[in-house]
Amino acid sequence: MTTIDYQDRIPNNVDLAANRTLQRALEQWQPAFLRWWQELGPTDFQASDVYLRTAISVDAKGWAHYDYVRMPDYRWGIFLAEPERDRTIGFGDDMGQPVWQQIPGEYRSTLRRLIVTQGDTEPASVEQQRLLGHSAPSLYDLRNLFQVNVEEGRHLWAMVYLLHAYFGRDGREEAEALLQRHSGAADNPRILSTFNEPINDWLSFFMFTFFTDRDGKFQLKSFAESSFDPLARTCRFMLTEEAHHMFVGDTGISRIVRRTLEVMAERNSDDPATIRNAGAIDLPTIQRYLNFWFSSSLDLFGADSSSNAAAYFANGLKGRPDEKKYADHVERETTYDLEVPADGGVRIERVPLRNAMNEFVRLSYAEDCEKGLARWNRLIAATGHPFRFALPSVRFRRTVGSWAGTATDPNGTPIPASEYDAQIAGWLPSANDRVFILSLMQGVFEPGKMAGWIAPPDKGIKDRPTDYEYVRLN
Ligand SMILES: [Fe+2]
Ligand SMILES: [Fe+2]
Repeated sequence: MTTIDYQDRIPNNVDLAANRTLQRALEQWQPAFLRWWQELGPTDFQASDVYLRTAISVDAKGWAHYDYVRMPDYRWGIFLAEPERDRTIGFGDDMGQPVWQQIPGEYRSTLRRLIVTQGDTEPASVEQQRLLGHSAPSLYDLRNLFQVNVEEGRHLWAMVYLLHAYFGRDGREEAEALLQRHSGAADNPRILSTFNEPINDWLSFFMFTFFTDRDGKFQLKSFAESSFDPLARTCRFMLTEEAHHMFVGDTGISRIVRRTLEVMAERNSDDPATIRNAGAIDLPTIQRYLNFWFSSSLDLFGADSSSNAAAYFANGLKGRPDEKKYADHVERETTYDLEVPADGGVRIERVPLRNAMNEFVRLSYAEDCEKGLARWNRLIAATGHPFRFALPSVRFRRTVGSWAGTATDPNGTPIPASEYDAQIAGWLPSANDRVFILSLMQGVFEPGKMAGWIAPPDKGIKDRPTDYEYVRLN
């Protein structure tokens, strides 16, 4: 285990000092990154001291260092999980061959596109969330927002390292372009549409970190299986950070639900207007935000039948999350029955499993999401109230794949377009919902104080109390 000086300009465990050309290239990209952070990262708060964790090694027992740091002084490092000895390709046509330390020429442009697409999501989410600090419900939440933001910045570094180290001039150009596309920009937006949706309120932030960061987890797990070993190792380490992002979303929504249930008990009512008048968020509104972010995140997995996905699997570029769970890693003959729309109904289309990889992973993602909903529903059930959150069908409101443009209700039942248009306002956040949610978004910046629409957390960060001064506003 090498020790890393985390005060280095670019802390790393890839022996950057031994490769002067690469080090210089990254040192040249660094000021552009810092400029981007100042211009499109969190608005204000750049002089505040934030109680942040910084990755300093990949040792499971002590990978993170916690201390107050100003965000522009955060050390965005490059860390790859320890190499697995004699690792071999775990799936696809080259199963059992040694993994690659360099990229085979024939996969160069495909891998570059995959890495750029993943890399693009990282700064995009920071841009989406840049205004949220002002309306943080507590210092604890403010700190968590900034923790997520700096780590998404580090994930950008992780992808930029690969681009610089393995893709030569093309890679350097792509690294520049990652700082030039901007979330929601009309002329040069981020690549994937979910990452161009505005996140102006904390209910959306928690939904995003629950649903969209979870898509990130599944993408990273797929890449963690890759035959291109540096990509696999980078993604394995990114997953340790990603877990906290999903924790923020999961517990954020739990705390909102807990607060709503308290207000429902106090007022002895579940009438949305009554709950809203008391300054909490009624459960049906939470469901509409959930419908929005879940359905948007589903599109990130790609088309349900995809020759690209089949090629990524065959060529060993991208596997299934936790590939070891499955018995058959070659899958040439295995088929998969896709449900596709047909004349106002549903029909089965049998395709090779390899072509259905996106759908296969999308459904295991939906299963993972269900676990969160089950936890929130247990909170409601414990109060005796009959309301339950439900995930919409994976067919609902899709813009990618065979269900794109097909009108269905949230259960996935095809309905006439006119009926969909008449009902959609009740299934997704309405303009009125958004105005109400924004009216609640007033920053609370006193240690231990909490906005009225969310319950306090069960515990603080790194054994600190919940009323700890997680951000010192300077
Ligand atoms: Fe990330
Ligand atoms: Fe994340």
